[in-house]
Amino acid sequence: MLHDPNRIYVFDTTLRDGEQVPGCQLTTGEKVELAIELEALGVDIIEAGFPISSPGDFQSVVEISKAVKQPTICALTRANKGDIDVAVEALKYARHPRIHTGIGSSDMHIKHKFNSTREEILARGVEAVKYAKQFVEDVEFYAEDAGRADLPFLAQMIEAVIAAGATVVNIPDTNGYCLPDQYGSKIKYLKDHVSNIEQAIISVHCHNDLGLATANSIAGLQNGARQVECTINGIGERAGNTSMEEVVMILKTHASLDLHTNINCRRFYDMSCKVSSMMRMPVQPNKAIVGNNAFAHSSGIHQDGFLKNRENYEIIRPEDVGFPDASIVLTARSGRHALKFHLDRLGHHLDKNELDVTYKKFLELADRKKDITDDDLNELVSQLLVK
Ligand code: KIV
Ligand code: ZN
Repeated sequence: MLHDPNRIYVFDTTLRDGEQVPGCQLTTGEKVELAIELEALGVDIIEAGFPISSPGDFQSVVEISKAVKQPTICALTRANKGDIDVAVEALKYARHPRIHTGIGSSDMHIKHKFNSTREEILARGVEAVKYAKQFVEDVEFYAEDAGRADLPFLAQMIEAVIAAGATVVNIPDTNGYCLPDQYGSKIKYLKDHVSNIEQAIISVHCHNDLGLATANSIAGLQNGARQVECTINGIGERAGNTSMEEVVMILKTHASLDLHTNINCRRFYDMSCKVSSMMRMPVQPNKAIVGNNAFAHSSGIHQDGFLKNRENYEIIRPEDVGFPDASIVLTARSGRHALKFHLDRLGHHLDKNELDVTYKKFLELADRKKDITDDDLNELVSQLLVK
């Protein structure tokens, strides 16, 4: 079968990078449950854990490998044989196993994390890929802190690990440092300067320290990356990782990008709620795509435009991401049109005069009270009968 050049592979790391958030740890049973949901969502790769880090993580990779059939199951390692041996053991039941190994690539990490040199680090990366390759065909290499790495050195490292057998090369903006155009240019530079780059898939892995993880991931995809590493709800260390629902819906909404995934977007809202409740990590109400207010219209001008034609203020239909429905929230900023919408919904079809009187009373109430309920509206209408 011919490889589709516009297909974006979705690599979910909710269970690895996402689960590193303090207080969000999951049991093996919970991880298996989420992995099965991720499979139904249509992700291509599930990063199931970092097997050497703890017996629990090891067991989670084993159980997810048994439970999940379609997606590739990936295990993280550092660039050393001990980590790789343990990952190989944890992946033994996986139908499609992948080892994700790597090492720091910025001078900052090389000097101040590894106390080493570029030459030595490059050699360690190559050796790790060659070692992993003896056990699995699919080896992904991560160049940690690539966001701050020297570009010619990064290109040299990527070329060497592809020559050693890496099938995917991950270019992480580990610290969420890059601007979108910088990150996009980095990917383009690798496309243009790594002689064997066509033998591997470039992967984007962005962190959200400056709120740019999604924008940077999109910039990377626009410049030739074909795998995106992300988490549900953008969960992850510090300010989090790239949010899967945001990237996927950007690709879907902007057809002109001509990039597509295999994700069943209608499962996003449910998936978001499951991850949030299992990880005890609330989703901010204004979170794009899955936040409780993502489809709530509250100002009078917007409500009026929305009620005339939803597309005036809706670029994604809530049902497309499994969201219950758009809502018209009644506040002191709402107009007559929104009030009439809710009164009609409750079966109160008022004439113009009655609506004017009720609207005035509604505004007085909404100035005093944050939430206007159906009971409040029924009460306002019943006052019309009292002369
Ligand atoms: O952010 C990062 O660099 C990572 C790697 C371990 C892939 O999570
Ligand atoms: Zn990361």
